[in-house]
Amino acid sequence: MMRLDKFLCETGFGTRSQVKGVIKKGLVLVNGKVVKRPEHQVEEERDCVVCEGKPAQYQKFVYWMLHKPAGVVSATEDRKERTVVDLLPEEARKGVFPVGRLDKDTEGLLLLTNDGELAHRLLSPKRHVEKRYYAEVEGRVMEEHVQRFQEGLDIGEKRITMPAKLEIVTSGEISEVYVTVCEGKFHQVKRMFEGVGCRVRYLKRVEMGGIVLDEGLRAGECRELTGEEVCVVRGMTLGLGE
Ligand code: URA
Repeated sequence: MMRLDKFLCETGFGTRSQVKGVIKKGLVLVNGKVVKRPEHQVEEERDCVVCEGKPAQYQKFVYWMLHKPAGVVSATEDRKERTVVDLLPEEARKGVFPVGRLDKDTEGLLLLTNDGELAHRLLSPKRHVEKRYYAEVEGRVMEEHVQRFQEGLDIGEKRITMPAKLEIVTSGEISEVYVTVCEGKFHQVKRMFEGVGCRVRYLKRVEMGGIVLDEGLRAGECRELTGEEVCVVRGMTLGLGE
């Protein structure tokens, strides 16, 4: 534990008197709430502190949102292929890895970080972190499929899939849908549709762990998470037990 003003000094937000001023002006949030007392105690590695909109991190963790394009592999290094880490600015790549994987042909939201603990929590099968995808599917997706996704499907694993939410946008020879799953089996979404006799021809992740893909990012572009987003992604996964 440490005083808030000391914490902000040590994380590079100014001198003791400067940060005291900022705190008293109500510009510092601890776990989403304004704290105006410089002596307020924070837990350095756990509390989410945001100073004038910028996250204060004791360990220099970085969090990036990438709009992954198709054709790029979700790895840190590959001898032949371009990786998602290659799409970050060069100075931001050190120690950074993708939080889970998207297939080479899948687009959309991918988080990258050097915060191994957070990544582990987001990916832990016990946490059931939600991931939402937009998909274009060959085959007529109908109400009966909504029910079957909800009940769980046999995709050749030991257990049937956990309940998934299927939302139909259009239904036809090609159907457009959103699907939300809370596990991350290999090719999960594609295999779930195969399980009901359809083929995914386009897949894009639009949300993960409460973080929504920024519509302003084109495929291949990235940006750092805002302080608020860092709190969301941490808040979603903290304190829920391992
Ligand atoms: N499900 C898939 O089938 N592929 C992905 O890339 C992500 C989820």
